[in-house]
Amino acid sequence: MCGIVGYTGPRPVAATLFHGLRRLEYRGYDSAGLGIQEDGGIRVIKRRGNLDHLEPLLGDLPGEGGTGIAHTRWATHGVPSTENAHPHLDCRGRIAVVHNGIIENYQELERGLTSRGHRFRSRTDTEVLVHLVEENYRGDLLEAVRAAMPKIRGTYAAVFLSADEPGVLVGARKDSPLLLGLGEGENFLASATLAFLDFTRRAVSLENGDLVRVTDDDWVILDINGGSVERKVFEVPFDATAVQKGGYSDFMLKEIHEQPQAWMDTLRGRMSPGNRLRIEELEEDRFDLREINRIIFVSCGTSYHASLLGRYVMEGWMDIPVEVDISSEFYYRAPKLDPRCLVVAVSQSGETADTMSAVRWAKRCGAPTLAVVNVVGSMMARESDGVLYTHAGPEIGVAATKTFLAQVAAVYLLGLYLGQERGLLEPEFVRHTLRELEDLTGRIEEVLGDTDTVERCADKYCRCEDFLFLGRNINYPLAMEAALKLKEISYIHAEGYPAGEMKHGPIALLHPGFPVVALIPRDSVYEKMKGNVEEVRARQAPVIAVATQGDAEIRSCCEEVIYVPEVKPQYYPVVMAPALQLFAYHVAKMRGCNVDQPRNLAKTVTVE
Ligand code: F6R
Repeated sequence: MCGIVGYTGPRPVAATLFHGLRRLEYRGYDSAGLGIQEDGGIRVIKRRGNLDHLEPLLGDLPGEGGTGIAHTRWATHGVPSTENAHPHLDCRGRIAVVHNGIIENYQELERGLTSRGHRFRSRTDTEVLVHLVEENYRGDLLEAVRAAMPKIRGTYAAVFLSADEPGVLVGARKDSPLLLGLGEGENFLASATLAFLDFTRRAVSLENGDLVRVTDDDWVILDINGGSVERKVFEVPFDATAVQKGGYSDFMLKEIHEQPQAWMDTLRGRMSPGNRLRIEELEEDRFDLREINRIIFVSCGTSYHASLLGRYVMEGWMDIPVEVDISSEFYYRAPKLDPRCLVVAVSQSGETADTMSAVRWAKRCGAPTLAVVNVVGSMMARESDGVLYTHAGPEIGVAATKTFLAQVAAVYLLGLYLGQERGLLEPEFVRHTLRELEDLTGRIEEVLGDTDTVERCADKYCRCEDFLFLGRNINYPLAMEAALKLKEISYIHAEGYPAGEMKHGPIALLHPGFPVVALIPRDSVYEKMKGNVEEVRARQAPVIAVATQGDAEIRSCCEEVIYVPEVKPQYYPVVMAPALQLFAYHVAKMRGCNVDQPRNLAKTVTVE
């Protein structure tokens, strides 16, 4: 959700903070602001809108080193406006805060603070934080934050600044990410490592309940009782070049083209010298895979679609049931779990609040948890019993693309590994399948190298306002993912449906201006899919087929055909996904949309 940056050190402070905000802009972009220590006070500039609106105001800020905080917002409480933008100041303008999260009891706190003479300037939940700290401030910011935080119910990553303590930043964290970036003679606090990656790769992930005091050459972490806390320093596993556009017009396009690499990197190095599939992360004996008798995936959005896809392959390779739940619904279902049920959380960010809640529910029930995540050291990775990383590298475009394919690679791997460990799959089968998966890298490259038809289809249909994506079997989750991609970046209404279900309702929607994208590769349900395509055609709706290279027959019953290379049936989603992502991308570009930062969306959803 919101992005936070704090900096103290010799670099030009305003420019360094703004640079960090640019890197975090994918987290929120409805308003932004900076607060900097200056002439014994705190200077705040903030603006409604994205960073381009803030940038012109930077000109008269100090060009020298110093200490400050900055924020890019994704509104939860209070409309996007300049008043509601962060930082927020206390009554005297001596303390400032930036915050990511939700303060659940803010109304109650605000009433109390108002009755004690505090005046509020915004309609946000965040502002209570700075007034509470003001009330507890006796010349030591860390102590004031420590006294204030126990009064808060909700989630927060917050960074404070006091005009009376030059060079000092204080951070606090509960259920929203906050990291310390450790430089030489300078330090950072941020929501994600990307904010400081151009300056340092050494970082510390703060844990729930941690408070941190940071100066340019020192940092100390305390718990809420004032006891000192040790946290591990780690090295960010990529450098700043990974978060640049590298010649592409948008991050999304770059990330779509990085898929062969993401796919390969997630599969790479998994074969042991003894010719067994190894997932080292799962060999730490925190749970015994042979004891597992049920698997439940929990995830949201694109990660949910990757999980659904995983179910199709895993059930074929294993003797135990696999269920898939949307994280935000899992909790209400309150499923009965026990130590033999493995809960697998799939998440790009590893910070999604709904999925985190599902993981915590599983832990409370005594079920083992496994996180399939992309962000190293993220909360889900730390709190789960095991972690399987997708090696997609940083993803900046808000719409997930390369991390989807990397998640698909990870769930294939997981299925193979579980099948092997449970003695159900022969070593030769596992080895052969892994090689087949690796070989798909070349097929993904082929799809990305030939995009003329995709672009032509985008051009032909980009003015339509509704789309239906149909798939069967393993291609049904992909139909949902393709619809999600199109709607989130182009704002076109799109639905992904199981093709067999169309006649039970959605067929009523069809008309000549309502294109249907049919995922119809040469597989066991080909003839059934063809029947569905005929049903669509009978309603005069245009059909774009995504079909197997060489399938001439399909041409006669569709307006357009996007061909993908022939692969085994269970691998078609892997080669069709990039084509469908590119279709959504080109449609959105032709409609003039900002594909990297679609309206109303944030990359990491840290609120429930
Ligand atoms: C869609 C998209 C979202 C995320 C969802 C879960 O393109 O990016 O639907 O997939 O918010 O996020 P993670 O995977 O970080 O848990």
